[in-house]
Amino acid sequence: MKVLIIGSGGREYSIGLALSQDAKVEKIYFAPGNGATQNLGENYQYRDYDDLLDFAKKKSINLTIVGPEAPLVDGVVDIFKENNLTIFGPSKAAAKLEGSKVFMKDFLKKYNIPTAKYIQSDSLSELTDFINTLTPPIVVKADGLCAGKGVIIAPSKDEAIKAVKGMLSGESFGDAGKRVIVEEFLDGYELSVFAICDGENYKILPAAQDHKRLLDGDKGPNTGGMGAYAPTPLIDEKLYEEIEKKVVVPTLEGMKKEATPYEGVLFIGLMIVNGEVKVLEYNVRFGDPECEILMPLIQSSVYDLFFKAATKDLKNLDIKISDKSCVGVVLASKDYPYSSSKPAEIIINDIDNKELLDNSHISYAGVSIIDDKLFATGGRVLICVGLGDSIKEARDRAYDLVGHVHFMGKQCRMDIAYQALK
Ligand code: AMP
Ligand code: GLY
Repeated sequence: MKVLIIGSGGREYSIGLALSQDAKVEKIYFAPGNGATQNLGENYQYRDYDDLLDFAKKKSINLTIVGPEAPLVDGVVDIFKENNLTIFGPSKAAAKLEGSKVFMKDFLKKYNIPTAKYIQSDSLSELTDFINTLTPPIVVKADGLCAGKGVIIAPSKDEAIKAVKGMLSGESFGDAGKRVIVEEFLDGYELSVFAICDGENYKILPAAQDHKRLLDGDKGPNTGGMGAYAPTPLIDEKLYEEIEKKVVVPTLEGMKKEATPYEGVLFIGLMIVNGEVKVLEYNVRFGDPECEILMPLIQSSVYDLFFKAATKDLKNLDIKISDKSCVGVVLASKDYPYSSSKPAEIIINDIDNKELLDNSHISYAGVSIIDDKLFATGGRVLICVGLGDSIKEARDRAYDLVGHVHFMGKQCRMDIAYQALK
């Protein structure tokens, strides 16, 4: 089978890596891919979605997988489907679950899915009135996509009102802030749950935890994610059941009722407050770096999983999940997340420890080939992934691998998976 993967990050590399080990897959294309995906297949630089569609037809692609949210929100799935191509991901209408926080919150309310108390409005006085009923900290969110920066946790009512003003005026996030959500602050711990959906049926993957802050101890600015691990011990069978019953099933039912059945990865950001599940957000794609640590845990065919989800045929599929643990540590460039850094050559020392070789690998993200050499050219450069019989063993291997990888300005957190090892 021939597969096309849209995207260029570590997430797309890890999907490609899993597919490259799948006997069913003969060729993988990445659009546009990165400096390392070309070792797993072929990169294609596309001009626009029509160009990409022509490419998929010309290469007789059997399955296209969409990595990032932007092409989903743009409607690439609709374009491919109108042309009878098989593509894994939600339609443009279903991608609104991530593209619009107002749509998401109203959807949660309509279908009685537990979430933080909120209002959404474009009126400063309405939002201010609601702020005055809350106890700080207060959460203020811009409606549209803001590259992960549209959420402000305000320490006081005044700060919350200031954040609302900045959004409504367009100053903070342009059009994305024209409507604003104000919601209560939830105090608990966060989990990410990923369900692969075909509109009707779903398969749940092991729950993961991301580390969004730049620095150890969850300090410093928010990033795309500095590391992740799965499965997390912070969830048990009972909580999985709650999440399925109270969140996954009503979400799929609700999306069907809205006439926008949900196909693709449903990434549910949850806060567990005193044992109760609350939805923080949906994303309509895999998390990055969560994807990099979930792919190695899928033991059955990854091709089948995505293909059957894309063809409404998940019902009869059994997926096999490894009982191992997986930890991923992001190595970022010097000035991440503030500004881009000068390209830096990546040197990887030979690994002679067989156990490490067999139980770790790199998922490449912000890398390019310059003069036949691999350079760090992006914010998040690569992810060192370790597998083990326990989180501790997986983490030790991931950090052992980190010690073998060098480039100028390399930075990483040293405490990935700490919540599982307390
Ligand atoms: P979101 O993009 O909505 O997931 O928000 C980004 C981050 O802000 C989340 O991962 C949480 O850490 C935090 N956050 C969002 N909403 C809330 C809330 N109601 N209470 C506490 N923290 C929140
Ligand atoms: N790692 C979080 C995300 O991809 O949104």
